[in-house]
Amino acid sequence: MRAFDAGWGGAVWKTLGNPVVNLSSRYAAVNHGKKRIMGMSNIELISDRGLSTNLKEMHEVKKNYPDHAVLASIMADEKEEWQQLIRRVEDTGADGIELNFSCPHGMCERGLGSAIGQEPVIAEEITRWVKQSTSLPVVVKFTPNVADICEQGRAAVAGGAEGVALINTVKSIIGVDLDDFIPFPKLRNGSTNGGYSGPALKPIALHMVASLGRQDWFSLPMSGIGGINNWRDAAEFIALGCTTVQVCTAVMHHGFAIVEEMISGLTSYLNEKKMNSVSELCGKALGCYKNWGELDMNYKVVAEIDAETCTGCGKCYTACYDGAYQAISLSGKSGESGKVLPTILTDKCKGCNLCSLVCPVNSISMVDVSPTEKIESWQDVLERGGYAIEDGISS
Ligand SMILES: Cc1cc2nc3c(=O)[nH]c(=O)nc-3n(C[C@H](O)[C@H](O)[C@H](O)COP(=O)(O)O)c2cc1C
Repeated sequence: MRAFDAGWGGAVWKTLGNPVVNLSSRYAAVNHGKKRIMGMSNIELISDRGLSTNLKEMHEVKKNYPDHAVLASIMADEKEEWQQLIRRVEDTGADGIELNFSCPHGMCERGLGSAIGQEPVIAEEITRWVKQSTSLPVVVKFTPNVADICEQGRAAVAGGAEGVALINTVKSIIGVDLDDFIPFPKLRNGSTNGGYSGPALKPIALHMVASLGRQDWFSLPMSGIGGINNWRDAAEFIALGCTTVQVCTAVMHHGFAIVEEMISGLTSYLNEKKMNSVSELCGKALGCYKNWGELDMNYKVVAEIDAETCTGCGKCYTACYDGAYQAISLSGKSGESGKVLPTILTDKCKGCNLCSLVCPVNSISMVDVSPTEKIESWQDVLERGGYAIEDGISS
């Protein structure tokens, strides 16, 4: 209820199912420099609060906030268990059901959670049972711990789901204490794999959303989740086809109030882009996500260093020299301040971006030096039997 007061439009309730015990401790994180929680790993199971308590509270929330969406996430074993759980959830007035086929720790050892998502035939069958047992909308939540997320998409469509949510956490061991050799989070003398969430997860989640969203056969609404921290993250998920987004770790880290920035930021962005609603943003980036072979091989960029702002730290030089194409020289060219400025050797620069990525003061931009005339296509290259590089021909 506090979340709704803060401005959130809906909530997916912590997964309900058969009683479990949760252990202590249960979270661990990796930081990035001074920034806390780049990624977090948790070994928490489903809700360890009594089912009746959860259902009573869900009812209360719906009674007090009838216009906010509340979805019950559920997880069960046998068909009858799923059906019983659904009946009890329906009595709360919840707006929909999310099927947890995706928890990658603890529950999957019991054949539940991601163990189901990884078996699309079973996922489809359970989705069908659930659909046969309820008139509530059903959303299936996907595990990223698979080779191809689309298999779960096919199962959700075939099973009759009304929507999908992706992604749950990635199986992880976040680190090891090198004194006592216990991985984190520590439980006296051992640990287990957890599920990785938070900002580090976003690129994986975006890719999975896009992989599914671009499929011709897939048209169910997608609820995007994984590393969303701010309005930009949310907008990116929407641009790749999500109609809603969910946030977990960022709320655990910063509190419910982050939604204010998400609402104001997204609103300003939509205004700036002259879009009337988020639905106009939905899917806008999907057409730009292509296969590698469809990319423009006549596009060419090279790095350009802004001598004014460059501090001469040499990071770009080292990165390029040791990690890329030796296309930056530090040949003693000094600016007015006496600092040694790096120079791009444009004939050697492959336009890889590495120097601009490592530059701590954003002094390097990539400039378009594409030939005005289209030189060739991949078909030309293949017909010719290879791709010409300076030193010869590589096939
Ligand atoms: C502590 C914790 C508990 C979670 N419990 C559940 C759960 O009960 N059911 C579920 O479907 N996902 C659960 N998740 C996964 C999140 O809902 C979400 O899919 C994942 O954390 C990625 O999003 P995020 O980066 O915004 O956290 C949990 C995540 C965390 C961090």
